[in-house]
This record gives sequence, C-alpha cells and structure tokens, in this order.
Amino acid sequence: STDRINIAIDGPAGAGKSTIARRVAERLSYVYVDTGAMYRAATWYFGQRGIEPEDEEKLLQMLPDLVIELIPEPDGQRVVINGQDATDEIRSIKVNAKVSRYAQVEGLRSRLVALQRQMALRKGVVMDGRDIGTTVLPDAEVKVFMTASVEERARRRFNEMKEQDQITMEQLIQDMARRDRLDQERKISPLRQAEDAVLLDTTNLNLEEVVNVIISMCRSFVRVRE
Ligand code: CDP
Ligand code: CDP
Repeated sequence: STDRINIAIDGPAGAGKSTIARRVAERLSYVYVDTGAMYRAATWYFGQRGIEPEDEEKLLQMLPDLVIELIPEPDGQRVVINGQDATDEIRSIKVNAKVSRYAQVEGLRSRLVALQRQMALRKGVVMDGRDIGTTVLPDAEVKVFMTASVEERARRRFNEMKEQDQITMEQLIQDMARRDRLDQERKISPLRQAEDAVLLDTTNLNLEEVVNVIISMCRSFVRVRE
C-alpha cells in the first residue's frame, strides 16, 4: 500500500535497538533489517580467512564472494554466510572485539549500504544500526536515536550472556565503551544522531514502553492496528 514508511533506529551497543526494532516490525507487519548482523557477518567471514581490516586490498578483492542471508525466524533471525549458518558465531566475543575495525573499511561499508538501501526500497522496513538515519535511509519517515547509560547497557548484555562466555561485567563495559568510541570517531558515517532524529533514552524504560513511544511516532504516517 502507499502509506508504508521506513523507520530508522540508531544508537550505541546495548541500547535496545534490535529487540525494539523487531517488536515494532511485528506490530506493523513490517520487515526488520539488522544491519549490525551484516557487519558481524563480514567480520566473521574475513576473520575465518585470516584477512585483517588493514588488508583492505585483499578484503575488497574477496568481497564479491561474500553472500549474507538474513532469514527471519519467530524468535529472531538466522544469519547464513555463504551457505553456512553462523547465527551464534557472529555474536561471539571474538567478533565483538573486531567488528568495529572492519566497519571502518570504506569499500565494505559502501557495499553493505547499497544492499541495505535495496532492502528498504519498497518501504515497510524497520532498520537498526549506527548510520541508518544519517546515511543509509536519510529520508526515513521516523528516525530514533536510542541511548541508555553505559552501565545499564552492559547490565542488559550481561544478562544475555551464557555460562561459557566467561566474561565479567567490567570487561563488558570496557568492550562496549571501546566499540562506541571507535564507532563515533571513525571517518566514514560515524555513529551520531541525525538532525531530524528523536532522542530516546531507554535507561529507565521497559521494552513495552519503548515500543509504544515509537509506535506513537508512526501514527501520523500510518494507521496502526491495535
Ligand atoms: O548489537 P550491538 O549493538 O552490540 O552491535 P550491532 O548492532 O550488532 O553492530 C556491531 C558493530 O557493527 C557496531 O559496533 C559497528 O561497529 C558496526 N555497525 C556499523 O558500523 N554500522 C551499522 N549500521 C551497524 C553496525
Ligand atoms: O541492539 P542493541 O545492541 O541496541 O540492544 P539489544 O540487543 O536489543 O538489547 C540488549 C538487551 O537489553 C536485550 O536483552 C533487551 O531485552 C534488553 N532491553 C531491556 O531490558 N530494556 C530495554 N528498554 C531495552 C532493551
């Protein structure tokens, strides 16, 4: 239909972007696109092949061979990389530690941004990441910049960790702070709030409250089923 819109959600790690974006998409019967999973997939793929982000020439040479599939599932999505399921692998501590360095590679970004724009062409997309409102979908009808205190964000992530992850709260806070800094300071499409994005601090909000705020922002554009 003609009244579908695109919704862009950006912010630092652990702010709640992906959980919220998925729920908003569900409410509107929209498609959720997790762009972080694409950068994670690329990180895992090149890491497996021993190609460091600094080895840009080699990386870009191999880029056409990388095929990422995001397959929606009832409770999340599967990430398939060149036919191999890497859903869990892309969330590993190893990928966490490296992803923001790969995300600085200009040729990789432009390739992923092109794919992301393609996915949003027909509208009805909720997309989350770091540069969606500023670079990928500057014309998105609804833009949210989601934040929360770093302690709250680390606490949320900590609760998701499995026994075997063997990571302390202290390490988590450091990992997040370092990743946020790299994302904010990089030259190409750094993490920042778009001028026309609404700032949403979720530190003291639960999931339902955040979803409702965003759905309210959509009401002036689309009729929302109750
Ligand atoms: O889930 P979490 O917030 O930890 O991270 P993510 O959304 O999965 O993104 C992982 C990393 O990918 C980020 O720290 C960024 O370095 C990069 N990224 C990016 O540069 N641009 C995007 N649109 C999405 C992610
Ligand atoms: O995608 P992003 O890294 O921004 O965050 P997320 O992975 O969606 O959220 C991290 C965790 O925080 C999830 O387990 C959410 O359920 C939780 N969360 C929460 O408890 N309250 C919120 N208002 C937002 C997220």
